[in-house]
Amino acid sequence: MVEVQRLAANVVANVIAGRSLDAELAFLWRRHAQSAARDRGAIQDLTYGTLRFLGWLEAVLDALLQKPLRDARLRALMLVALYQLEHTRAAPHAVVDHAVRTCELLGLASAKGLTNAVLRNFLRKRTALGARVQRLETARFSHQQWWIEKLRAQYPSHYTAALEADNLHPPLALRVNRRRLGVENYLAMLASQGIGAEAAGESGVILAAPVPADRIPGLAEGLVSVQDIAAQVAAPLLDLRDGMRVLDACAAPGGKATHAMELADIDLTALDSDERRLERVRANFARLGLAARVVCGDAAEAGAWWDGKAFERVLADVPCSASGVARRHPDIKWLRRVTDVIQFAQVQKRMLDALWQVLGSGGKLLYVTCSVFQEENGEQVANFVERHPDATRLNLPALDDDPRLPAGQLLQNPRHDGFFYALLQKA
Ligand SMILES: C[S@@+](CC[C@H](N)C(=O)[O-])C[C@H]1O[C@@H](n2cnc3c(N)ncnc32)[C@H](O)[C@@H]1O
Repeated sequence: MVEVQRLAANVVANVIAGRSLDAELAFLWRRHAQSAARDRGAIQDLTYGTLRFLGWLEAVLDALLQKPLRDARLRALMLVALYQLEHTRAAPHAVVDHAVRTCELLGLASAKGLTNAVLRNFLRKRTALGARVQRLETARFSHQQWWIEKLRAQYPSHYTAALEADNLHPPLALRVNRRRLGVENYLAMLASQGIGAEAAGESGVILAAPVPADRIPGLAEGLVSVQDIAAQVAAPLLDLRDGMRVLDACAAPGGKATHAMELADIDLTALDSDERRLERVRANFARLGLAARVVCGDAAEAGAWWDGKAFERVLADVPCSASGVARRHPDIKWLRRVTDVIQFAQVQKRMLDALWQVLGSGGKLLYVTCSVFQEENGEQVANFVERHPDATRLNLPALDDDPRLPAGQLLQNPRHDGFFYALLQKA
């Protein structure tokens, strides 16, 4: 556990310093290939868990310290150990003992006494401390204050549930390839292998407990794809028919593009500006036995990749703050700045304006974000419709059973992520 704690503390310190969790873990897997492979699950648990509850852990640690810690790695080590004490079944004495030994590995032998005292103090006073920090919203919800306030202002009746859902383990949902089999047949296949699951939506199933990718029946063979239930809403909204010319303008890794191709024999162009991510699109097409044009280009600069022939459908699943999927990337909760939301909205506006030009008359554009902030969603679309007199926002079938939510908005909950959909038709 000593090595696991040390590596996890390094990752957490680097994320707190501003780096992305995915990038830090990828770096770790490369650098410590052997030990990291053995301890991968444990390191992931500790880093994801610590970042998930970082607001609470920071508040508790501050309450336990007489003066601020100067060493960022020592602080991260204490946060990881507090996470283990509060949220895991690791034996408390082992957690404390290993954290004290980890101090040495970090070259911080002089901090052993302090680490021991802080963690033991936590064990003695945890109930009172917990009650005390609950009064701080950043601790209670483990989000930044601006994020809490934005959600409260935009969803007065739902913000608490959404913030709480951000701190849950995400569900594992699959999309059944209905060209190959029905949802009922796939549920039977899962049951025969002892995997509990329930049907959700037209083609989805949610597993009762997560299963590693290599143990998901039929995944490698293209019978199913991993895709959140809220993301599975996209392709059916496009109202696709065989032969249609369709553009997926932000296609990687190909979740919605492959779904669209499972629904109809379309002529699809899969565009993305990130060549490395397009590799995953090609791999997904190959896994599912599908074929489409894959193009690397900037959706906001159509001149560079468009052949001038209008598309009948455009899917614009634009880059966004990802505030609806924060539980899948808990570093996002701490790395996002309030100004990022406005910057994303500006990029999205440029993309929407450019993509509108490649859509033919009567065609439909589906605008999608995995954000819950209205600047990127309802406000963005309302401004778009105002700028483009030839655009009509179409009504969508009810997406959620709560009519108080803005049109097209799905909020994250235990069953699905947070997404936004708007379907626009060109006159
Ligand atoms: C939300 S993801 C798309 C997810 C994808 N539609 C799916 O369902 O699997 C957004 C994608 O937009 C791409 N992207 C970002 N800026 C872009 C741009 N200017 N032009 C095209 N793609 C861009 C990113 O590389 C990323 O793959």
